[in-house]
Amino acid sequence: INNWKLADHPKLPKGKTIAVVVLDGWGEAPPNQYNCIHVAGTPTMDSFKKGAPKRWRLIKAHGTAVGLPGDDDMGNSEVGHNALGAGRIYAQGAKLVDLALASGKIYEGDGFKYIRECFENGTLHLIGLLSDGGVHSRLDQLELFMKGASEHGAKRIRVHILTDGRDVLDGTSIGFTETLEKDLAQLREKGIDAKIASGGGRMYVTMDRYENDWNVVKRGWDAQVLGEAPHKFKSALEAVKKLREEPNANDQYLPPFVIVDENGNPVGPIKDGDAVVTFNFRADRIVMLAKALEYENFDKFDRVRFPKIRYAGMLQYDGELKLPSHFLVSPPEIERTSGEYLVHNGIRTFACSETVKFGHVTFFWNGNRSGYFNPEMEKYVEVPSDIGIPFNVQPNMKALEIAEKAKEAILSGKFHQVRVNLANGDMVGHTGDIKATIVGCKAVDEAVRIIVDAIEQVGGIYVITADHGNAEDMAKRDKSGKPLLDKNGNVQILTSHTLNPVPIAIGGPGLAPSVRFRGDLPNAGLANVAATVMNLHGFQAPNDYEPTLIEVVE
Ligand code: 3PG
Ligand code: CO
Repeated sequence: INNWKLADHPKLPKGKTIAVVVLDGWGEAPPNQYNCIHVAGTPTMDSFKKGAPKRWRLIKAHGTAVGLPGDDDMGNSEVGHNALGAGRIYAQGAKLVDLALASGKIYEGDGFKYIRECFENGTLHLIGLLSDGGVHSRLDQLELFMKGASEHGAKRIRVHILTDGRDVLDGTSIGFTETLEKDLAQLREKGIDAKIASGGGRMYVTMDRYENDWNVVKRGWDAQVLGEAPHKFKSALEAVKKLREEPNANDQYLPPFVIVDENGNPVGPIKDGDAVVTFNFRADRIVMLAKALEYENFDKFDRVRFPKIRYAGMLQYDGELKLPSHFLVSPPEIERTSGEYLVHNGIRTFACSETVKFGHVTFFWNGNRSGYFNPEMEKYVEVPSDIGIPFNVQPNMKALEIAEKAKEAILSGKFHQVRVNLANGDMVGHTGDIKATIVGCKAVDEAVRIIVDAIEQVGGIYVITADHGNAEDMAKRDKSGKPLLDKNGNVQILTSHTLNPVPIAIGGPGLAPSVRFRGDLPNAGLANVAATVMNLHGFQAPNDYEPTLIEVVE
């Protein structure tokens, strides 16, 4: 049905090698001691800045510019890479779920009807991230859904919580658990048997991504399905508080726990005849559990028991795998991405990152689609991430290895586009360890240097940008921008992303001196990058893409 042929750009040549580099979690903020990029000193990235405004500028990476509900929503990698790759702004999961809950449509769809069949005799289990971060899930959506489900026949509800501390401040899991406990108490007053059944920290329990470490999912499975965990508590609030008292404990890495009754029996293992909903809207960190819950044949770990359940995702997490096959809200239909167009127009593409961000430059970039469009034209390389070593202990991560792979791909002459994601600003930034994040930022700058050097050698073009902010601000701030203090007088460390814009730099010997950033798009965002890159490959972007950032002046 689609005509994939792109019109030639009237002025820009084809055949250049273009490096597209996404610095994960690398925003622009005033220089100060909590700006790890500034403290690190990043000569390569700073050298680009000197090209402003013609060859360096800022673009929006948060809120409505990337399809999130409002402009208080920080950016994230899913929506960021979606926008970068798709060239258009789609209403994203967070917003689609809001709309479905507000209209009540969520209860009329096939997904809800499917799980409702279990409400007569079975339990409704809700598994997901418990916070108001708005990146993977939102507590207010969980609250509305529990209420709605109970009004639509659910009599027994069990919530399996994953504590956050990554998209929100560390320590906030206590407050979120309190809120949830209150909601459940209210449901109990209405005669619904509603409880928290298990829990654990998101980075240690359940929410691994890109099959980095299946043990993470297994720990969750044991608690959620089998009702087994090293820690047993009578209440979730007590569990979270107690487990946080352990040395070095934090919300992200709390060990798994189950809630037990007076007799020591787990209050909510998942059993035959039950309904299960994973209430995260974002795919990457829940799709592994979706596989474990849905696939009859499964060899990633021993499930011990594979209950006969009716399972639905809040969204469908993978459109290509059609996983899960049942879901409550339809995901954004991201089609005709720049990657697909370029492959149809003869652009040979190489994409690379390390495991923890690999799907970002492939799956998210391609509109939440797994695999190649055309294996003859594309090569995706995953550099294995270290397993089990905290990112602040090895803040260099695999930046240099990725850069070397990119360099090789550039020098090979086999590819027109070499696309990478450098994860350090984000992954180390999320640990809240400022010293380590500074080291990580240095490594990223060095990696960019290597890639740009390779581009210089082949007469190519580079496009350096980022998906959202993180490392450029590690302090939680008040409205006026002053760092907030905790009750001990220490600055509250911001482990999450930010609302800051991100830089984009273009250059390289293949870029004609007549090419520069336009001055008429002050509010441009990540979605404007795709058309820009298409132009640099010598093509015009499709009409419905967000406008290109560049112009050619005579
Ligand atoms: C995560 O999943 O690690 C965080 O919640 C968001 O980080 P990302 O959007 O950069 O992946
Ligand atoms: Co992040």
